[in-house]
Amino acid sequence: MKQYKVGMIGYGYWGKILLRYFRKHPGFNVKSIATRHPDRIKSDIPAGTIACLPDEIINDEEIDAVIIATPIGTHFEPAKKALDNGKHLFMEKPLTLNPEEAEQLARIARKNGLHIFTDYIFTFSPAILKMISLIEEGAVGKVTGSSFHVRQLGHFSKNNVYVDLGCHILSVLDLITPLNKLEFTRSDILSHDGFVETGVIGFRPAVGASSPDESRSKKSSTYKPDGITGIICLSFNHPIKERNMAIYGDLGTIVYDMMQEKPLQILHYGFDREKTRDPIEKKITYFDFDEFNTVKEVVDGFYRDLTGKFPSNLDMSMRVTEILQKFR
Ligand SMILES: NC(=O)c1ccc[n+]([C@@H]2O[C@H](COP(=O)([O-])OP(=O)(O)OC[C@H]3O[C@@H](n4cnc5c(N)ncnc54)[C@H](OP(=O)(O)O)[C@@H]3O)[C@@H](O)[C@H]2O)c1
Repeated sequence: MKQYKVGMIGYGYWGKILLRYFRKHPGFNVKSIATRHPDRIKSDIPAGTIACLPDEIINDEEIDAVIIATPIGTHFEPAKKALDNGKHLFMEKPLTLNPEEAEQLARIARKNGLHIFTDYIFTFSPAILKMISLIEEGAVGKVTGSSFHVRQLGHFSKNNVYVDLGCHILSVLDLITPLNKLEFTRSDILSHDGFVETGVIGFRPAVGASSPDESRSKKSSTYKPDGITGIICLSFNHPIKERNMAIYGDLGTIVYDMMQEKPLQILHYGFDREKTRDPIEKKITYFDFDEFNTVKEVVDGFYRDLTGKFPSNLDMSMRVTEILQKFR
């Protein structure tokens, strides 16, 4: 198995979690970890791993790939330097805050034959991937709308909640219908110090984008909508942690709820809407998945991306950054 030597820049809340999974993956060897204050992390990192400054990783000829796990506004500069020095990138989400910067990184990567992978962890959730394939198989019929909730208490940052939490949902939404076919609105509900802490994103098919194909037969191989309407409710001011999604169709509703023991369920309406509004028979199918090991899938996704066994998520990541500029 080919092994990639890796350096990680940023060793905070998320960097520490990433490190655990990168160290367990046989395809990666984490050589060094950088922050602006390497002395502070020396005693905290695993034996045999070097604590250093970011440029030492970027200039290290042995390093094949760099993980960027620094705060969102600081992703671009080390990422660009790493690409200029021939390193692949594992980027924390969102890739950048600014679409021009994302475009610049993509250009350098393409020119130098390098990979950029963004950690959109929800797009590696086994239950969410099953939800998408069930939609495509027509399990809920023609999709009519959707709602998403990501709410929790803190942790507050110097970004709008749309950026910190909303980008996760945008990455999932892009699996259902490409973001560039949708138009978005925002309703800020609670702000503090100029940052939105609770807010709602609304979306619907963009004017001019092709509308859902009414003629699609139920036997059609795909029910994936060409456009979708919905809301994304996001909050840092919510005492109950919520991660849920509902996709409504004319035959049923599919619900993902990460906090449930069985995180995926489909409600089949089981009634003829021509004759009655009330379900004759309520049938629910449950699916069991381990939703608490998704970082392992993400790290393996990066390995498969590097080894050409997984399609790049760069285009999706750039579409998310493009939409986020309305929500910064
Ligand atoms: N995929 C997910 O589900 C998920 C979840 C949480 C967070 N994240 C992402 O992970 C990233 C980091 O978030 P976090 O919560 O871990 O932040 P954090 O706890 O504040 O840690 C940030 C780390 O980066 C270092 N750092 C800060 N500025 C730097 C700079 N200019 N150059 C080099 N190092 C710098 C900090 O150390 P020094 O201050 O000593 O330099 C610290 O080690 C963000 O992009 C966030 O969106 C992703």
